[in-house]
Amino acid sequence: MTKRIHDLVPPHIRALAPYVPGKPIQEVERELKMHPIKLASNENPLGPSPLALAAAQKALADSNRYPDGSGFYVREALAQKHAVPAENIILGAGSTELIDLAARIMLTRSDCGVASHGSFPLYYIAIRAAGARLLEIPLRNYAFDLDSIARNLPPDAKIVYLANPNNPTGTMFTADELDSFLARVPETVLVVVDEAYFEYVERPDYSRSIAVAQRRRNVIVLRTFSKVYGLAGLRIGYGIGPADLLNEMNKLRGPFNTSGVAQSAALAALEDAEHVRRSVESNRAGLAQLCAGLKSLAVQFVPSFANFLLVEFGRDAEPVSEELLTRGVIVRPMRWMGLPSAIRVSVGTPEENKKFLDSLALVRDTTPRESQPSIRQFLEGDSRDI
Ligand SMILES: Cc1ncc(COP(=O)(O)O)c(C=O)c1O
Repeated sequence: MTKRIHDLVPPHIRALAPYVPGKPIQEVERELKMHPIKLASNENPLGPSPLALAAAQKALADSNRYPDGSGFYVREALAQKHAVPAENIILGAGSTELIDLAARIMLTRSDCGVASHGSFPLYYIAIRAAGARLLEIPLRNYAFDLDSIARNLPPDAKIVYLANPNNPTGTMFTADELDSFLARVPETVLVVVDEAYFEYVERPDYSRSIAVAQRRRNVIVLRTFSKVYGLAGLRIGYGIGPADLLNEMNKLRGPFNTSGVAQSAALAALEDAEHVRRSVESNRAGLAQLCAGLKSLAVQFVPSFANFLLVEFGRDAEPVSEELLTRGVIVRPMRWMGLPSAIRVSVGTPEENKKFLDSLALVRDTTPRESQPSIRQFLEGDSRDI
């Protein structure tokens, strides 16, 4: 039998489940003929910083030119902000590109990458796309089980991904907990600490990760302009880590991976402390509004340190998100992230949060059913070695 070209795509690529993004507003407008609110992708509801927007508009005029592929000025600004040498900083087309590059420099087919079931799916996609074996350690009480990861680290493990706070559960680990974890992990294992939601966390014991990445040879910290800076659509994020590892990642990234528009906007956004402050404040108030509203509806959720909440229904939550959609509210059903009885809702403006809560109140039967396996049991199941 003649082979089709698709049969020649390596099995580990064909077996990948695709990333399922939040439903775009335009798609819902097209299909349901209504203008929805989107609380599905943990975006900044206040929009981009006005300074960033003005800088981006100005930079558009130079779009006939390739951008500075090294992102010199953004890296210099970040170097100043974080008090690290610019050679310890790499820019990505969003931090997601850096998640993938980290796996690509570390993993071969005979290696193992470690992620956690109930965390950000791009980690497992990056590990599997590199052809490596994936070990998924379950969360415990919706949070990374750092003790279990350290205990179960196989000898062929070369990379571990941790999101802090975790997406989609919103839980965090402390700087001390990360220190204790790293003390138990061999220096031959790269630990990627993804802090996409860093700016939203207001606990003093949260993170010293950049100092840690400066001290150790095996830690890369990821941050992004997509969340608190409101630039998700421009695709720019960064990593901080050892220069020798970043040099390897630089060889693999597209030479012009971050556009001139994105770089100019990021540079201006870094100057706009007021927009960051307003965004964090708005998120704090929005989280409180959502938590109070969910409590009054007797709907369970996981307390969150980020700009979203994992809401638990104790039964298939797909109908809940479908019903919310018909009422003009896009949330993220969590089946594809392995949490079929939950949805994730991003914190919006006060009006958007109210519309979500009012719509949820109208959804039929949101009460948990005891007979269904709870999210807790699910997350605390056995480790899955895939
Ligand atoms: C944990 C985590 N890391 C990274 C990202 C992606 O960010 P970026 O837009 O910088 O690629 C997200 C976005 O949702 C996230 O939740």
